[in-house]
Amino acid sequence: MKQDIARVLIDEKVIEKRLDVMAAQIEREFPEGTLLAIILLKGALVFAADLLRRVERPLEIECLNVSSYHGGTESSGKVDFLDRSFPEVKGRHVLLLDDILDTGRTLHAVAERLREEGAEAVHTCVLLSKDRPRVEEVEADYTGFQIGDEFVVGYGLDYMGRYRNLPHVAVLTPEAIARG
Ligand code: PRP
Repeated sequence: MKQDIARVLIDEKVIEKRLDVMAAQIEREFPEGTLLAIILLKGALVFAADLLRRVERPLEIECLNVSSYHGGTESSGKVDFLDRSFPEVKGRHVLLLDDILDTGRTLHAVAERLREEGAEAVHTCVLLSKDRPRVEEVEADYTGFQIGDEFVVGYGLDYMGRYRNLPHVAVLTPEAIARG
């Protein structure tokens, strides 16, 4: 796996420090009551596990399996909800967690759906936000890091299903991308 990495973009220690700050901000700003965290699978799994363990508030966790990249580097343009059921969100303040905000399609589609299902408010939180024009007008309420418009893997993010277990955010070599 190591030989496939061209460059580490965000080191593990830097991520940890940033998560401390984000968790404190969420604790401070989130309305009273039990927080409902919704994790978008699979990419946000690692980020959410590390972030939520730092949030010292009563909270419940739900997961939603959505996909639009199907393992590749380009969005398919369509956000698929892969679960048979949808969590009960009526009247709740939801903290929606995703790994990366890119075209904005995923966050937009899921936030819309949560509102349709009766969520009182949807607060969005991403580890990474790509500096690029959005297809959907959406920005996250909480952002870990702004990054350039390049394809990244690690810390939950994949290429063809792999590299999610890297402890840092990294850029792949052109050879690793070409190999698929
Ligand atoms: C990726 C990523 C975000 C979304 C962001 O999901 O995890 O959910 O794309 O891109 P967007 O802003 O262009 O919508 P993917 O479809 O790869 O599924 P995964 O989380 O299972 O890897």
